[in-house]
Amino acid sequence: MAVPDRVLSNDDLSAIVDTSDEWIVSRTGIRERRIASERESTATLGLKAAQRALDVADVLPVEIDLIICATSTSENIFPSTASVIQGGLGATQAGAFDLSAACSGFVYALNMATQSIRAGSIRTAVVIGAETMSRVVNWQDRGTCILFGDGAGAVVLKASSEPGGILSAILRSDGTGSDLLGLPTFGSIDAGGADLLENGHRLGKMHMNGGEVFKFAIRVISESLPQAAQAAGITMNDVKLIVPHQANARILQSAARALKLDETRFMTNLDRYGNTSAASIPMALCDAIAQGRVQDGDYLAFVGFGGGLSWASMVMRWGTPAAALGSAGRFNWQRRRLSYATASGRTWFGRELRRLRRAMARMLPGSRLSRLQREIDENLP
Ligand code: UT7
Repeated sequence: MAVPDRVLSNDDLSAIVDTSDEWIVSRTGIRERRIASERESTATLGLKAAQRALDVADVLPVEIDLIICATSTSENIFPSTASVIQGGLGATQAGAFDLSAACSGFVYALNMATQSIRAGSIRTAVVIGAETMSRVVNWQDRGTCILFGDGAGAVVLKASSEPGGILSAILRSDGTGSDLLGLPTFGSIDAGGADLLENGHRLGKMHMNGGEVFKFAIRVISESLPQAAQAAGITMNDVKLIVPHQANARILQSAARALKLDETRFMTNLDRYGNTSAASIPMALCDAIAQGRVQDGDYLAFVGFGGGLSWASMVMRWGTPAAALGSAGRFNWQRRRLSYATASGRTWFGRELRRLRRAMARMLPGSRLSRLQREIDENLP
């Protein structure tokens, strides 16, 4: 995982909006969150998380077949954040795309990558959840801005003949609740140049009906987790740890009660990072591993829920591939660094070369290069 260094505490927030540490902690469980610096973006955080995941798995960028980035805060509609990350890794054999399923996105993406591996079309995938929510929250709305933070998490998935891995997934959507949680974006909405839409929402700013989403979340967590367990051929009692989307501690406590499970079976780290949307599940998984709460052979469950409305539950059996245990050698570590350095050099060189070609064509108007450049320019749409 990767998070920005800058910490925004509840007390810091109370200087921005009419709120207090006491209200935020008692209503949400959140104590602080991370906020991206000017130099950070969804892609830079996602790239850092992906690099760390490759180190843990001891996989080379050139071995990656597919990169999926689940995000709601891509810098661009296109190019995708996944493509920017692919370029930064130097994953020259990989396809890359973003997946939009709000806070359920990471589980959706994990299932898409799993199915591609299972179908035999790819062998190795990197799945990332990355967000810079601080760029899209309305900092005047105390009902939402206190909840969200920035960060990224990533995993490497590999084909294996060992039993285990991802065992089941329940993916669902209810578009009739699409007005309850959203982020209207520029592009296909014609707002006549205004930022404020007829329905009162702002372009580029998140809105949420907290109370409705709260009830929806408890319902779908408690319904879909047992469905995923059943599809995996186990019961919820077999699941060692549930790694849920980190939205609100009260949601998780209510869901635990509804499922008649001890709430310690739900991993939480939202006190330190808040709600990081699609990044929250891989970040919580990383923390769970670091805390020694995940062992080989454990059944884990993931559950995401959010805008769409969308939700997704998944059950997996954790297993560390044998290769990653022994040979995370210095040599591969260096080969990865070389790939990142070459990738950034290639991006810079390509850009400069294109600029130089145009400049040369202008300086030598009668040359073949100039004619070629004119032809390219004239044929551009
Ligand atoms: O990631 C996507 C999924 N998102 C979620 O799952 C979020 C789900 N929703 C929630 O977590 C909760 O609904 C919130 C944390 C957003 C709100 O908590 P709540 O207990 O539902 O509070 P509320 O909206 O019912 O508001 C209760 C009171 C209101 O005051 P009045 O009308 O009772 O006087 C609010 O104006 O609390 C007030 N309030 C605040 N007070 C201090 C709302 N936000 C704040 C605040 N500080 N930040």
